[in-house]
Amino acid sequence: MAGGRGALIVLEGMDRAGKSTQSRRLVQALQAAGHRADLLRFPERSTEIGRLIGAYLQRERELDDHAVHLLFAANRWEHVTSMKEKLRQGITLVVDRYAFSGVAFTSAKENFCLEWCKQADAGLPKPDLILFLQLSPEEAAARGNFGSERYENSPFQEKVLQSFRHLMKEKTLNWKTMDASKSIEDLHNEIKTVAEKTMQEVKDKPLGELWK
Ligand SMILES: Nc1ncnc2c1ncn2[C@@H]1O[C@H](COP(=O)(O)OP(=O)(O)O)[C@@H](O)[C@H]1O
Ligand SMILES: [Mg+2]
Repeated sequence: MAGGRGALIVLEGMDRAGKSTQSRRLVQALQAAGHRADLLRFPERSTEIGRLIGAYLQRERELDDHAVHLLFAANRWEHVTSMKEKLRQGITLVVDRYAFSGVAFTSAKENFCLEWCKQADAGLPKPDLILFLQLSPEEAAARGNFGSERYENSPFQEKVLQSFRHLMKEKTLNWKTMDASKSIEDLHNEIKTVAEKTMQEVKDKPLGELWK
């Protein structure tokens, strides 16, 4: 198509690193600059699967850890058709958490290997850019207390960070670590610059498949 495809841009990082703030800002800025861009977040709690995940996170119901992992992955898979269609139409997708969070959280639990965790998401649209918003646990703590949802405690978050570090070693993925301790504005400007560069670079390239 004439204008080329949109880019798939993912924001990852620990709780309170600024993923939601920055993904919203990025979509607004891209749209203001005349690009077509949409915001997505995972888990996307509005679907049936998403509501189940929401109930689990809010401790309203218990689920086996394997089942939870597969539900988070299914929640991504149920959006693949519309994601691919939007990208094809030239719409850039900015995604607040993706398969990397899914794998990092489950593999932080006892008795889960990274390979098993990755299988459920293998074949998803491959991000053209993954921004890892890096923030120390101390700085994250200064941004407010943990909420009451499942996973919101520091020992678990520390394990999640170790899993992210493993995933970031994969050189076939375009990871960029960003210093999330900067001001919202400064970080936004940096993110917007790399996002626009990526959008330009990938517009005539085929969309890849993650972990395949
Ligand atoms: N660069 C920043 N500097 C200071 N505070 C920030 C920054 N980015 C986000 N915040 C604040 O930190 C909190 C967590 O941000 P949020 O975007 O919700 O993080 P995440 O989605 O990664 O959990 C919010 O109160 C937000 O306003
Ligand atoms: Mg968030």
